[in-house]
Amino acid sequence: MNTDTLRAEVESFFEFKGESITLGVPVWNNEVLTGSFIKAPLKMFNRHGLIAGATGTGKTKTLQVLAEQLSQNGVSVLMMDIKGDLSGIAAAGNPHPKIDERMQQIGLPWQPKQFPVELYSLTGNDGTPIRATVSEFGPVLLSKILGLNDTQSGVVSLLFKYADENNLPLLDLEDFRKTLQYIGNEGKAEVTAAYGAISSATAGTILRKVIELEQQGATTFFGEPSFDVNDLCRFDDQGNGLISILRCTDIQHRPKFFSTLMLQLLAEIYDNFPEVGDTEKPELVLFIDEAHLVFEEASKPLLDSIESIIKLIRSKGIGVFFITQDPTDVPDKILGQLGMRIQHALRAFTAKDRKSIKLTAENFVPSAYFKTDELLTTLGTGQALVNILNEKGIPCPLMACQMVAPQSRMDILSPQEIAAQLSQSKMSAKYGQAVNRESAHEMLSKKIQEVAKPQEAKPVAQSTQRKSSQEKSTFEKVANSSAGRTIIREVTRGFLGVLGLGSSRRRKSLF
Ligand SMILES: Nc1ncnc2c1ncn2[C@@H]1O[C@H](COP(=O)(O)OP(=O)(O)O)[C@@H](O)[C@H]1O
Ligand SMILES: [Mg+2]
Repeated sequence: MNTDTLRAEVESFFEFKGESITLGVPVWNNEVLTGSFIKAPLKMFNRHGLIAGATGTGKTKTLQVLAEQLSQNGVSVLMMDIKGDLSGIAAAGNPHPKIDERMQQIGLPWQPKQFPVELYSLTGNDGTPIRATVSEFGPVLLSKILGLNDTQSGVVSLLFKYADENNLPLLDLEDFRKTLQYIGNEGKAEVTAAYGAISSATAGTILRKVIELEQQGATTFFGEPSFDVNDLCRFDDQGNGLISILRCTDIQHRPKFFSTLMLQLLAEIYDNFPEVGDTEKPELVLFIDEAHLVFEEASKPLLDSIESIIKLIRSKGIGVFFITQDPTDVPDKILGQLGMRIQHALRAFTAKDRKSIKLTAENFVPSAYFKTDELLTTLGTGQALVNILNEKGIPCPLMACQMVAPQSRMDILSPQEIAAQLSQSKMSAKYGQAVNRESAHEMLSKKIQEVAKPQEAKPVAQSTQRKSSQEKSTFEKVANSSAGRTIIREVTRGFLGVLGLGSSRRRKSLF
């Protein structure tokens, strides 16, 4: 066992037929093996991945490196930017002696490069606002965001059903609120006759939670124009894949919203992208930084749904990468779905840390060259243990890797640069302005007025425009697709119950 045998191992395992990206070179016994490149085949990016490591060990830079090289190879990327530190990828990197040193050790030239970037945000701050309508979100996920119990979720499902049957589009939270008020007041008799009684206390609780959600800044998020996920896959003139950055700083303290949003987005992507099977390279790769937020407060059904959709989405050519500090943050079932592992250093401060290091080390295939438990605490910044799948899906030997440096800026864009970016953006022109067309709120207000003046009564205008709440939410569609059905059976059973699907109107009280 010497550097020559290790070099020979790298050469025999990390040469692929199809396109690949270069992660770096091995570091063994404190020696950097210049020119022996550790690569990852593009073909395997739909097998998902994990980037883990303590704060400051190089996770975000690894994410940046992967995103850059995917883009360079014509793959589009979506990054969930929780801390707001990813925008620099839109600007060329600044030369630095440390970058030169790193790249010389690796044995590759360093060229500063900027990448095509689209900036999005949930509130419209520092990014084009991304929106979804209340009906696209659907009763199940909306109830989850609101943190409702089963009884309350039942009322939400009933509200959606009522809106469906009365052609009342539920677009924004105002529509939802108005409909909720209506079925509890003016429309109470009508609703009770059709579906059974709704407790005013329950309606009141839901209303309070909606107002809370609005106060937390969700007002911008719900409404039209709703985001078309097909806009994620685009290319510049040179064929670089677009990197979309969704700024989520506004919800970093709202893990429930974040995890639900993730699920909705994944469902939307799943529903819109065609089935492609295993292809030479992925269509889109998602990176979710600070992913512990997704799992922190997620309920079991939500976790099950995430697990299912991660499984299903592979055949659509979508890869999902989670970035988190401690790999044990990720539930085992989901961890088991992640083919590529890039593990930066962990810190051994507490007993819990040491336990997690032991667990993490045991999760790697034993290596003749690398002692995982020792390396986990001694890896340098921008170095990582990497576990890559070859093109047949078989793990390559574990390597301790000196990672290449990003070509784009390792710092964020200035406010001026962000403003300039947005002013040129086609997406900003498409989604920048909220549209408030006639929907449940206006229609019910009119109806109430007309009831007050019965002599002038006119039939309520029926909306035939675009999507009304009649259509099932993407999440429900996915959960009910044939592929979804077999895998999500357990989860949907609960949902179908809540939704009352299959049965027409329920005459008996739901509560
Ligand atoms: N691949 C790399 N190339 C160059 N510098 C790196 C690399 N990885 C990490 N660094 C250095 O380490 C710092 C911390 O890395 P970062 O990715 O922000 O850590 P984390 O996301 O794990 O907290 C960076 O600001 C950078 O100076
Ligand atoms: Mg980071």
